[in-house]
Amino acid sequence: MNAALSLTHSSISAPRITLETVNQSYCDVTAMTHPPQPLIDAQNLCLQYVVGDKPIMVLQGASLRIASGTTVAITGPSGSGKTSLLLLFAGLEQADAGNIAFEGVDIGGLSRDVRADLRRDSIGIVFQSFHLLPSLTALDNVALPLQMAGVAQARELAIDMLQKVGLLARATHRPSQLSGGEQQRVAIARALVHRPSLLLADEPTGNLDDKTAGSIRDLLFRLNHELNTTLVLVTHDMAFATRCDRVLRLHNGQLLETPPVIGVEDNDAVPA
Ligand SMILES: Nc1ncnc2c1ncn2[C@@H]1O[C@H](COP(=O)(O)OP(=O)(O)O)[C@@H](O)[C@H]1O
Ligand SMILES: [Mg+2]
Repeated sequence: MNAALSLTHSSISAPRITLETVNQSYCDVTAMTHPPQPLIDAQNLCLQYVVGDKPIMVLQGASLRIASGTTVAITGPSGSGKTSLLLLFAGLEQADAGNIAFEGVDIGGLSRDVRADLRRDSIGIVFQSFHLLPSLTALDNVALPLQMAGVAQARELAIDMLQKVGLLARATHRPSQLSGGEQQRVAIARALVHRPSLLLADEPTGNLDDKTAGSIRDLLFRLNHELNTTLVLVTHDMAFATRCDRVLRLHNGQLLETPPVIGVEDNDAVPA
């Protein structure tokens, strides 16, 4: 009896070879030989601004690969280029040199309109100063990006997202009728309502008191986990940064990986 016949014969207990098992084996081998594509692969980014005739060198060969689903903190002194780096990742600014691939696509080579489409589909942004539209209610602020994208269920999805950030009871309030922490919750809901693969957060707790900042930190990590979003967080707050999988520091226009800090608890756990 030939091998093919023996594999299909019901009396034989050898594992059945199906298309799925062949595909699975192929995927397993591919995963071993090709590491997964990073969500962001930024290489040798250079950026300068020119004010009058004076150039300001901001990024000078910054490189960073970010794996999908991870959390990455970017730290560095004021003026070191953290916001500029996020603007490059969002396609809102263009580098003078270097490349950024987003899910394998070189965003430097995309037109302004296609970069806007990329943001609409795949990127959410949270700012320090919330940037909500003052004349719209919380619900309308959250629904607006979906409505602009022509999503039929915009209001239902916005309600669901307001619930996730714990602010459904304030859905009809305008930003001026909300506290800073509540406004940031609305801004987070707006940034995540289209379920982006990447959330960029630029000092999201910078304008908040300690207690409110703590609840926004918890919310960001909870939602990041729930929605499996990749988080790139700019912050001065090391307690916030060290909750991320990786912490990088912008120094002289380059990104330096910071080794994980061993906390007091970890030290205590090490035998003397
Ligand atoms: N649009 C701009 N035009 C000119 N200079 C700018 C502009 N945006 C930022 N800069 C300058 O670039 C440097 C980096 O800015 P930024 O990325 O905002 O730093 P950070 O977010 O780390 O504080 C600063 O010196 C800032 O003044
Ligand atoms: Mg900044």
